[in-house]
Amino acid sequence: MVSWERSESIILFGPPGAGKGTQSGLISEITGKPQVSTGDMLREAVGEQSDVGNEAKAYMEKGLLVPDSIIIELIRRRLQREDASDGLLFDGFPRTIPQAQALEGLTPVSMVLSLNVPDDIIIGRITGRRTDPDTGEIYHIAHRPPPDDVVDRVIQRTDDTEETVRQRLSTFHSQTAPLESYYREKGILVEIDGAGPMGEVSTLVRDAVNRRTEG
Ligand code: AP5
Repeated sequence: MVSWERSESIILFGPPGAGKGTQSGLISEITGKPQVSTGDMLREAVGEQSDVGNEAKAYMEKGLLVPDSIIIELIRRRLQREDASDGLLFDGFPRTIPQAQALEGLTPVSMVLSLNVPDDIIIGRITGRRTDPDTGEIYHIAHRPPPDDVVDRVIQRTDDTEETVRQRLSTFHSQTAPLESYYREKGILVEIDGAGPMGEVSTLVRDAVNRRTEG
């Protein structure tokens, strides 16, 4: 059995609404690597009205990518924290070739798990998404309804309108999708069919991570 290179990071890749946030807990549980979502980091910065947040807000509201320099600096700082010493699980990063190239100078990457989901399914997933602001738990009005004691406090993200989702998908196809070939050529891309129900996708994710962990 080939042992897991403990300091290597993992990338969870896919279009908006593919299920990255939904599946990240499972991968963190299996690998012990903390999840780092650049989207969550940016939303936190927007909420705090920090310089980064104030600059990122306009891009996020339009469904455009926040400039690489801001994102790379966020990740560089995150990797300096003590819990990053065994590698991280990146959710939604990198999203451009320059971000991927910058990451190479910061931490080794052992695997890129790519969730494949067609655009028509994405629209329904994102417009039906609701999040618990207290716990960060992700729900869906049809596929994973919030329980009775949570339903009154769930919120909808401001960038989860159909119009913004279409722009986010277009941004994904033009700027982020080329990373698939980039990582395929490096031999670390693992493609997963993310279109099925959550439980089925979780089984595929678990099998892929375990296969890779066991060599
Ligand atoms: P970010 O927050 O990363 O958003 P995203 O990539 O668009 O991804 P999402 O969070 O929308 O989706 P997800 O894949 O996590 O899906 P989820 O599990 O929630 O980024 C937001 C913005 O920040 C970007 O637009 C950009 O402006 C900026 N940004 C972030 N990172 C950046 C970077 N690196 N560079 C530049 N800019 C950056 O699932 C979605 C819904 O579907 C949920 O309701 C869930 O319950 C449901 N669901 C999940 N799986 C299934 C299933 N199998 N079946 C049915 N329903 C399902």
